[in-house]
Amino acid sequence: MKLTVVGGGSTYTPELVDGFARLRDTLPVEELVLMDPAQDRLDLVGGLARRIFARQGHPGRITTTSDLDRAVEGADAVLLQLRVGGQAAREQDETWPLECGCVGQETTGAGGLAKALRTVPVVLDIADRVRRTNPHAWIIDFTNPVGIVTRALLRAGHRAVGLCNVAIGLQRKFAGLLGVEPPDVHLDHVGLNHLTWETGVRLGGPEGEDVLPKLLTDHGDTIAADLRLPRPLFDRLGVVPSYYLRYYYAHDEVVRELGAKPSRAAEVAAMERELLTMYADPSLDEKPALLAKRGGAYYSEAAVDLAAALLGGGGTPYQVVNTYNRGTLPFLPDDAVIEVQAAVGPQGATPLPVPSVDPLYAGLMANVTTYEDLALEAALHGGRARVFRALLAHPLIGQYEYAETLTDRLIAHNREHLAWA
Ligand code: G6P
Ligand code: MN
Repeated sequence: MKLTVVGGGSTYTPELVDGFARLRDTLPVEELVLMDPAQDRLDLVGGLARRIFARQGHPGRITTTSDLDRAVEGADAVLLQLRVGGQAAREQDETWPLECGCVGQETTGAGGLAKALRTVPVVLDIADRVRRTNPHAWIIDFTNPVGIVTRALLRAGHRAVGLCNVAIGLQRKFAGLLGVEPPDVHLDHVGLNHLTWETGVRLGGPEGEDVLPKLLTDHGDTIAADLRLPRPLFDRLGVVPSYYLRYYYAHDEVVRELGAKPSRAAEVAAMERELLTMYADPSLDEKPALLAKRGGAYYSEAAVDLAAALLGGGGTPYQVVNTYNRGTLPFLPDDAVIEVQAAVGPQGATPLPVPSVDPLYAGLMANVTTYEDLALEAALHGGRARVFRALLAHPLIGQYEYAETLTDRLIAHNREHLAWA
């Protein structure tokens, strides 16, 4: 089995490689290709990746290249984890929206739109090249904003599934609180990428007992503190929103906080410099603890599970992924990309049925789906008018004056990445 990671020079890659090494029985990787345009990073990350495989006695081969066509040739699955413009572009996304009193975030709001506009054309080009060499390869998309990027891939007819670590993170958290093993926790997870709610927490599988009410009674304070949302909100809702809902439920508070501290991009850039220095040390042969300070905890586990299921070797039967709605949530179009539990196998992902969704969540999902649709139109066809429409449609923006100003700023800050600007 050959797997290719596009954006393999990411400082996150050792997390992934550690997962491949630990979980080699689930996913027997023979060749892992790390592809990245940045040769200096590839050398450092590739070196550590090989040492991790060696330490754990993994028989697979790790190769590195900056040549995409060579990287994907013969690959069974291609993982996309790239960031167009790097942390510098992210820093912009997190900063200029704040000047209008709007949240500055890499996936939510105006910053997320900027990221989508930079990313969609690049990802589609990569996917086309994958399909040309290898029509049966699966594309696993981690690249944010995952909902919009996955929708772009599926609309272009690619064999793609979008993946995020929010669900697996909550599964691990809840398992710890309940004193059970993570695979015993099945989340009733519903929404769009980075806009999800856990409406049930079941023991043993989709038909298992729902222990969410008890979890909230016994551990509501811990969960609320973790997600940085007020406990009474959980008590009122009776569900657990993901921490990305904080950008909605506590928008103004978040804007004040973000305005008073360095951006997450700056923090991450500093961590990356430190991590790359560590990776250069030939005696390091495991993922460093510092990596746990990044947001991507457990993404390797989710990736291994998904790749194993798609490539027919195993993996857990139900997994939280991003895929076409196709009637699962009747209030959304069939071609909306939703993030739900799905049966995953060599034929792809098929969402499990979802019981009727509270209008409180359905309304926001429908609104954000419309935004995502308009965002994709802007990413595919460009133009100031399309950017404006997407921003005006976003529930965290909505006002004419903000949408006008943010449109101009978005374009001004991203000109070098937008072919049409
Ligand atoms: C979580 C999200 C990812 C996001 C990451 C950011 O893992 O699910 O989509 O990329 O956080 O983490 P960072 O350490 O870069 O802030
Ligand atoms: Mn995510």
